[in-house]
Amino acid sequence: MADTLYDFGMVGLGTMGRALLLNMADHGFAVAGLDTDTGKVDALHSEGAGKPVKGFGDAAAFVQAIRKPRAIMMLVPAGAPVDSVIHSLSPFLEERDFLIDGGNSYFKDTDRRALELTAKGLGFIGMGVSGGESGARHGPSMMPGGTEANYARIKPIVESVAAHFDGEPCVALMGSGSAGHYVKTVHNGIEYAVMQMISEVYDVMKRGLGLSNAAIADTFDAWNHAELQSFLVEITTVVLRYKDEATGKELVELISDKAKQKGTGKWTSQDAMDLGMPIPTVDVAVAAREMSGLKAERVEAAKVLKPSGEALPYSGDEAIECLRHALYAAVLIAYAQGLALLKEASREYGYGTNLETVAKVWRAGCIIRSRSLETIRAAYAANPDLANILVDPTISKIVLEHECALRKAVMGAIQASIPVPSLSASIAYLDGYRSEILPANLIQGQRDLFGAHTYERTDKEGAFHTQWEQA
Ligand code: 6PG
Repeated sequence: MADTLYDFGMVGLGTMGRALLLNMADHGFAVAGLDTDTGKVDALHSEGAGKPVKGFGDAAAFVQAIRKPRAIMMLVPAGAPVDSVIHSLSPFLEERDFLIDGGNSYFKDTDRRALELTAKGLGFIGMGVSGGESGARHGPSMMPGGTEANYARIKPIVESVAAHFDGEPCVALMGSGSAGHYVKTVHNGIEYAVMQMISEVYDVMKRGLGLSNAAIADTFDAWNHAELQSFLVEITTVVLRYKDEATGKELVELISDKAKQKGTGKWTSQDAMDLGMPIPTVDVAVAAREMSGLKAERVEAAKVLKPSGEALPYSGDEAIECLRHALYAAVLIAYAQGLALLKEASREYGYGTNLETVAKVWRAGCIIRSRSLETIRAAYAANPDLANILVDPTISKIVLEHECALRKAVMGAIQASIPVPSLSASIAYLDGYRSEILPANLIQGQRDLFGAHTYERTDKEGAFHTQWEQA
């Protein structure tokens, strides 16, 4: 193929970049890839044999081979590597060319890059890509942000390669500026919350009910065929059943109990705090990963702080049903927090994000895809201004039917000294959100007493201060 005919360029030929390029080639697009690692360029050539794919090691030759105005995507680690790729491509780019950052970039970096590139006459799209290697190869969920005009230029290609749900592509403009990376960050925050809650349920089944990994896997498998159907429940079964070839043991038993993180969950919590939005299920999911990292301290503490040793107050089929209903309600409550955060972020940052579109794009291809997302989409279709999905008539009915199980599951785990921080935070969020009256009146009184911070009254307008301590 002549070197000037490539429709699309990709910088970063790691597993994700190669998989997405091959997906594009399968859909009839001629694509070029750039990587300084010749091994990755060779891998692209061998995996893409017979397809309209070409790898380059030289930035100038790569850029010149792409049809103008050029669309070039970067799939490199977030942070400095993105700026370094932009810097290395810039001398060869021309006006109206544009770059797409497909990594998990911090949204404020995306805003900065968009400003810098726009000033040079270049277009920029920050796009979250979810679904891992298999998603990239066979259909990811993609969350682009930026201008309608820039998005229009990549729309045909991203719609062809995206996952589809009921014939609709799981990609759409999430809003202006950094909206795409913001939505992806919140996606990951929800991902942390759901993974944490699945692991808490696994812990209750394992430590509390004494079930084997095989029995727990069968349980999750059955759940995945009903209302809890989701990618994360599905892969839980795979992880629990996997046997280590070398030892013949269940691999999950050999994996260290220290969870790592690359930062997106933390960013979700940090920005939610900046915006004054409560997302406690995500917050404690991040904290739970941090707690897992204190392995050496936990080992010592376990010797001193011996748990109560009380048994779970439920067992057998009743316990399994309780946990199933609990997880169903808690996951909906986690989505509710993430989506409420997106609503506020869209208002604060002027993104213009449509939450029905977000739910649509998350229905397939991404890590948090689940049957519930169609219910959530329908809630926003019925009421685009919904403050929180928990007050949608269908979702509130589900949550009210299942909250008792969530409460019972959490109380039982607490009694048995099994940590369930994210499940607990979910029930607490529900109880807080539906409390017409919260004890914050007392906090206001305390603040005013020690700091003269003033308070508002329920019976008259204004800011008030009281000399609380009578001398
Ligand atoms: C996805 C994933 C993906 C990645 C996470 C892992 O949507 O495909 O979210 O982006 O696996 O960033 O995040 P942690 O390393 O922070 O767990």
